[in-house]
Amino acid sequence: MNSDALLRDYKAQIEKRLAELLPERAVPHARLSEAMRYSLMAGGKRLRPILTMAFCAASGQNAAEGLDFGCAVEILHTYSLIHDDLPCMDNDELRRGKPTNHVIYGEWLALLAGDALQAEAFSVIASAGKSPELTVNAVKVLSFAAGFGGICGGQYLDLVGEEEKQEENELKLMHEMKTAALIAASCELGCIAAGADEAQRAAAREYGQRLGLAFQLRDDILDVEGTTEELGKTVGSDEKNQKTNFISLYGLENCQKLVAENTALAKSALNSAFADTQLLCYIADSLVKRNT
Ligand code: IPE
Ligand code: IPE
Ligand code: MG
Ligand code: MG
Ligand code: MG
Repeated sequence: MNSDALLRDYKAQIEKRLAELLPERAVPHARLSEAMRYSLMAGGKRLRPILTMAFCAASGQNAAEGLDFGCAVEILHTYSLIHDDLPCMDNDELRRGKPTNHVIYGEWLALLAGDALQAEAFSVIASAGKSPELTVNAVKVLSFAAGFGGICGGQYLDLVGEEEKQEENELKLMHEMKTAALIAASCELGCIAAGADEAQRAAAREYGQRLGLAFQLRDDILDVEGTTEELGKTVGSDEKNQKTNFISLYGLENCQKLVAENTALAKSALNSAFADTQLLCYIADSLVKRNT
């Protein structure tokens, strides 16, 4: 299969598995599961689970061996989007081409849907059928990326940046934590699912960190240059919230250069750690000029 066909195949497996992992439920609190499924099944690029599967394959196992770990990351990522859109955070009304979770379900239910999705992610890891050692390693990696040293720490710096100007090193740290940490975890979890060694895990982390930095830079560029139709979220959100980001610091053109530079560094981080890097390089290249 060529890279495009492989990615389509991975995505189809992910959609199917996510729907199985979070089925509709006939219980008194069914509306909570409806709110969880509303955002989870709304589409999205599924980049993170695709990376998990691609690294699992690059580490010499069947990509499907990484499917559940990848779905766990996507579930956690979806929680972070629901909370990111809340009125107390970015106050956005469109996500994945649909009204945001709180617009449909109200704030307290959106908050709970996010909370429950975050817990569900760890339940999926624990139930993935891997050995106790691999499972503990996976929990360590995902919890780090989600918490103080990852998304929450990054979101703190992001929101504080609405109130006070930030230094360049704080901005870089913000990107690394709020976005790159989870992308790096997605990559490393693919290696863990395959039982890969530390050299491969380290290369996957480095690739993911570089790719994640490029990904958030491109996200900031698209917030200025993109279209609501293609992105499925309202453009101009960062300016509305007066975010400090790399665009306000360096300008659009320099930021696109940084996207290209970090993408090249991501690819070279793969070095000699993996025998077949074609798909991983293809994914990195396809994100440089992405419009969605
Ligand atoms: C959006 O992530 C949030 C960022 C970290 C920039 P994605 O652009 O991967 O969003 P979906 O999952 O495709 O909706
Ligand atoms: C990424 O930053 C947010 C998360 C870590 C969830 P943004 O706030 O820029 O993401 P979008 O643009 O709303 O998707
Ligand atoms: Mg935000
Ligand atoms: Mg946002
Ligand atoms: Mg953004």
